[in-house]
Amino acid sequence: MARILITSAIPYINGIKHLGNLVGSQLPADLYARYCRARGDEVMFICATDEHGTPAELAAKKAGKPVAEFCAEMHEVQAGIGARFGLSFDHFGRSSSAQNRALTQHFAGRLADEGLIEEVSESQVYSHADGRFLPDRYIEGTCPNCGYDKARGDQCENCTKQLDPTDLIEPRSAISGSTDLEVRDTKHLYLKQSQLKDKLSAWIDSKTDWPVLTTSIAKKWLHDGDGLQDRGITRDLDWGVPVKRGTEDWPGMEGKVFYVWFDAPIEYIAATHEWADKTGGDWERWWRTDKGADDVKYVQFMGKDNVPFHTLSFPATIMGSNEPWKLVDYIKSFNYLNYDGGQFSTSQGRGIFQDQALDILPADYWRWWLLSHAPENSDAEFTWEAFQTDANKDLADVLGNFVSRVTKFCRSKFSEALPEGGVYGEAETKLIGDLTTKIRAYEAHMADMEVRKSATELRGIWVAGNEYLQAEAPWTTFKTDPEKAAMQIRLALNLIRVYAVLSAPFIPEASAKMLSGMNTLDTSWPDDVDAALQALPAGHEFTVPEVLFAKITDEQSAEWAERFAGTRD
Ligand code: 2FM
Ligand code: ZN
Repeated sequence: MARILITSAIPYINGIKHLGNLVGSQLPADLYARYCRARGDEVMFICATDEHGTPAELAAKKAGKPVAEFCAEMHEVQAGIGARFGLSFDHFGRSSSAQNRALTQHFAGRLADEGLIEEVSESQVYSHADGRFLPDRYIEGTCPNCGYDKARGDQCENCTKQLDPTDLIEPRSAISGSTDLEVRDTKHLYLKQSQLKDKLSAWIDSKTDWPVLTTSIAKKWLHDGDGLQDRGITRDLDWGVPVKRGTEDWPGMEGKVFYVWFDAPIEYIAATHEWADKTGGDWERWWRTDKGADDVKYVQFMGKDNVPFHTLSFPATIMGSNEPWKLVDYIKSFNYLNYDGGQFSTSQGRGIFQDQALDILPADYWRWWLLSHAPENSDAEFTWEAFQTDANKDLADVLGNFVSRVTKFCRSKFSEALPEGGVYGEAETKLIGDLTTKIRAYEAHMADMEVRKSATELRGIWVAGNEYLQAEAPWTTFKTDPEKAAMQIRLALNLIRVYAVLSAPFIPEASAKMLSGMNTLDTSWPDDVDAALQALPAGHEFTVPEVLFAKITDEQSAEWAERFAGTRD
């Protein structure tokens, strides 16, 4: 039994996420967690909400709520949506937790003790009306290059020129519109990542089994341009982890907080601490190599935009602390899922949001389609037409139809109990051989986190059952040789249980329905397919399950395509 620590990138708190976010981290992480558990591994599956930073403050302001209250509410909303999607986190934490505050301050203190923190004085724009310093992108004005009047302090989105806030003509606050701005000096902490460059570089080079998407992004950031830059890890904001050096005050840093990207990944550790405080478990045996985490395999899941922070910044925090914290062993990253010829966009409200998806169809439809089209080697595209065609074919015509045909036939010709029947013939031996090959391939892909290949293999396993049924036609056999038909149906009913076990990581709700229809709690993995197809003995009672997957109609598909064509706030 292995011990597997799995983390999914923690979603920002500032709104409900779209399906692209789901397929880029949480969903494949859940697939892997469920698979590892099914194979008997001890799993710790962690996620959380990413609650700090300016976007959280502004979203709270827009909602007219104090930021702490807004975050607490949105955390519940996101936790609820995750549960409805069947995301099987051991703990869904909050980066604003006391545990994360303490741990973030601890890491900063350690980094300072190791000589890796520098205090830097810089000039920043202060808004009197807003009573705060403004991050570059919250300053707007006219572009000196093209005259566009809504250019941001970091870049003009019209002519793409990179800007400094002081380049803008007639600058104003993007928050309040106020032009009462002043450039002030302020002091910030910088993490001297550049000093860790060789160590990070050697570490990345040693990860020869990582996906190319992960290592290519890491190497680009390590070696392009000026290479690894030291980075500011503090901000002049009210909302966040207050800057402290361990438990001590940090002179000159009063009223400042750590940058959201400094404390967010530390929340992976802190969330496990939150879990331990809630359950009485031991979080250190997952995270401290001096306390048993040496034999843990740690896997992270994330979209490609998160890769630099996880391959360089967070490891720099861990390595720089010079304490025995667990470093990630494998980073599975994803490209983007596009929506109907454009991008899913949270800020523009474009695409299907997670709550909307669940309002129109059960989670398993989304889980299956998204995972079987996971953007692993390139960006992928969601279209309503493809979604309808694939879901209907795979889920309704292949899997659902198999379950319904077999159970209904048995009920009508025999009873709602497995019939006895004769011994296997050639077709059954061939099917068992074929299934064994396919199941071993499925296991290999799942262990490698090859999501699309796993889905393809699983679909092939479903198809094999259907082809057997089609070729052997027990309903025809029944007329001349009811004994043989009984044997065929006994095997097919057992195959439903095997399908439920194999498919559970992808479609947990449907799997549960199949198991409950088969009236069994036996979720043992089909290591030996022949034996697995005899797990339910003759005489074992079952019930015909309700329809597993209703087909998506043309009307529904057309209506949804129209409903989700626009944007939402
Ligand atoms: O991209 C995002 O949604 C970020 N909130 C991910 C943070 S992952 C981590 F570092 F915790
Ligand atoms: Zn411009």
